[in-house]
Amino acid sequence: MANRSAAELALLGGTPVRSSPWPQWPARGPEEERAVIAALRHGDWGGFPLPNERAATFARAFAERHDSAHALCVANGTVSLEVALQAMGVEPGAEVIVPAYTFEATASAALFAGCVPVFADIDPDTYCIDVGAAEALVTDRTQAIVPVHLAMTVADLDSVGALAEKHELAVLEDCAHAHGARWRGRGVGSWGEAGSFSFQSSKLMTSGEGGIVTTSDDVILDRLHALVNCGRQRPGAAEPAAIGHNYRMTDLQAAVLEVQLGRLDRQHEIRARNASRLRAAIEDIAGLTNLRIDDRVTTQAIYQFVFRFESGAFAGLDRDTFVAALEAEGVPCDGRFYESLPASELLRPDPARYPAWSATLARSPVPDCPNAERAAYREAVWLPHQLLLGTTTEVDDIVEAVLKVQRGAAGLAGLESAEVERLRLARSAR
Ligand SMILES: Cc1ncc(COP(=O)(O)O)c(C=O)c1O
Repeated sequence: MANRSAAELALLGGTPVRSSPWPQWPARGPEEERAVIAALRHGDWGGFPLPNERAATFARAFAERHDSAHALCVANGTVSLEVALQAMGVEPGAEVIVPAYTFEATASAALFAGCVPVFADIDPDTYCIDVGAAEALVTDRTQAIVPVHLAMTVADLDSVGALAEKHELAVLEDCAHAHGARWRGRGVGSWGEAGSFSFQSSKLMTSGEGGIVTTSDDVILDRLHALVNCGRQRPGAAEPAAIGHNYRMTDLQAAVLEVQLGRLDRQHEIRARNASRLRAAIEDIAGLTNLRIDDRVTTQAIYQFVFRFESGAFAGLDRDTFVAALEAEGVPCDGRFYESLPASELLRPDPARYPAWSATLARSPVPDCPNAERAAYREAVWLPHQLLLGTTTEVDDIVEAVLKVQRGAAGLAGLESAEVERLRLARSAR
């Protein structure tokens, strides 16, 4: 191939800004290896009988780190939402308010619990639930609200709490992105009746798959035990046996998570330092804006570094072309990380399976969620957290790649999305 100049965009065949590897994720070392081997040799691999020893020890440490009295390990961060809603006493057919911009599981878990998800638009500056929009959706069937602490921030828990108190709603925090985050000094997952976390591979702590529910309510804990352990009563529980799933976590997973929890605070520090350098650089780039991080977020968890893109300062490029060009420069990133949930193909109402949801939609169609739509389809750019686990060199490479795309944007303006996709595939085949 002819000599390509470093100034030419990599999407058009130029040399990428970065070709060296990024910090590896999941972060792992001899500590995880030793823990897995010890669990393997111990022989009690599974989750039965509940509580299994390592999962129980890990859950105690996780609850303490998040200022909750209890935590219970489960199979993943979807079933954790499902059983938490049930254990909180949210009834079948009840409406549950969820943000319109999140992973589908936040809403589908409500459906699995027999409830009806109702989508509230997001705050355009934080991308977390807009509590004013949520209040407008409260009906006499609403029983719960699920704020999601999205990407790199924490939903406004004070406003959520005030709304919940006013309308007697239960609060379930979806903390799938927010391990270790604190709001006004107190751990996420401890502000509502329950909190739900995911340990899926991309998350800030991982055992490949896994989840956990935090709560300080003994009755909720008893019900959770039954729901995840085939209905069996927790020893000494006041709550009766119930119909339950097997949603237990294995001790092999818990062994890894104990080590991962020990790494969390140091990783937060590294990411925070690099994120503040990246935020400062973004402030100086025309057409990019940082998400607003509330002062009450006293410990920030950065699952994805998200910024907002405005095409005017990039020769009119749309967000998806910008993302393709940035990725070609060697920066892993995503634009359509989440859909606006009312538009998601993964959440089509099926009247036979979800009659209560279909009836709600027939009664009151989903309101417009313009902020979620703008974020999902035109504005948000997501960078995975491990890009911030390196040094200033990694941050400076991200910034240089963004500036290079900005300088060369005119060369991409006007391309059809099919042509951008062809260029993207050609680049990744090289
Ligand atoms: C906001 C949110 N909620 C829930 C989940 C579900 O977690 P899991 O993948 O462990 O089922 C995820 C996972 O990506 C998530 O991002």
